[in-house]
Amino acid sequence: MNIFEAYNSIKKALEGAGIEDYVFEAKQIIKHITGFSSTEILMNYTKELTEFQSNNLTAILKQRELRYPLQYIFGEWSFYGRDFYVGPGVLVPRADTETVIEVCTDYLKDKTESKILDLCAGSGCIGITLSKEKEDSVCLMVEKYPEAMRYAEKNITRNKAENAKVISGDIFCGAGAEEKYDLIVSNPPYVAEEGDIEVSPETKYEPETALLGGGDGLKFYRAITENYKDSLKEKGMLCFEVGIGQADPVKEILNAAGFTDIGTKKDLNGIERAVYAYK
Ligand SMILES: C[S@@+](CC[C@H](N)C(=O)[O-])C[C@H]1O[C@@H](n2cnc3c(N)ncnc32)[C@H](O)[C@@H]1O
Repeated sequence: MNIFEAYNSIKKALEGAGIEDYVFEAKQIIKHITGFSSTEILMNYTKELTEFQSNNLTAILKQRELRYPLQYIFGEWSFYGRDFYVGPGVLVPRADTETVIEVCTDYLKDKTESKILDLCAGSGCIGITLSKEKEDSVCLMVEKYPEAMRYAEKNITRNKAENAKVISGDIFCGAGAEEKYDLIVSNPPYVAEEGDIEVSPETKYEPETALLGGGDGLKFYRAITENYKDSLKEKGMLCFEVGIGQADPVKEILNAAGFTDIGTKKDLNGIERAVYAYK
């Protein structure tokens, strides 16, 4: 089978498995198994796959048909232009989270030597990205679960993020709160546990501990606002990623805690995804 034929058969298999983004994924899979860039694929589309590549493709499709996440199969994923290791035990970095990065980089752009705290760090995609985008800043990341923390550590090394560090800790116990920061950022677990929990088939393979945010999904926002307000410098910013429909209740939590100039930023789908406020 040549590359073009493989591309068509992957698209067909993925579409048959109910995968919405089958065209995008087919391209990613071809890139992954051949090691070619998009241009190289176009230049080599009649090239035959090797036996190794064909076997690899069969294995990938088998897993994808079971809706095992493509990102876990590849073992890495791109976020804000950098590559991060991912796999079982850690949440895959989402494109939506780049909205939070935009809010934070905008806030940091005129500041020097900022101190950043990233709570619920997971793969480290937020903290590492911010420390690389603003190289004179330092970022402490807090993560409770060892499996996720190991990914953050490997991603610090992979991205040469010398100014980022991850510690093991629980935000409900105020881990990392003893210092003062210019910016505190968090994409906490926020899926509500009341009623039917609706997640995609792929998300079922991701850790529940990265997803579930208590009965109404807001318990992490309440705890972080309460436990970390004193850890912000005057005029420091607190920035959260929120789920669909959570911007208003999170704004209320921040308002009740005395934060000012509360704002939101929409993601590419027009959903209010980041909520930020100042001390
Ligand atoms: C929604 S994920 C976000 C991961 C990463 N920041 C991102 O944006 O992709 C939430 C993370 O919080 C971690 N977590 C859950 N409970 C925690 C707690 N009590 N204290 C610290 N981290 C916690 C989970 O293990 C998970 O890695």
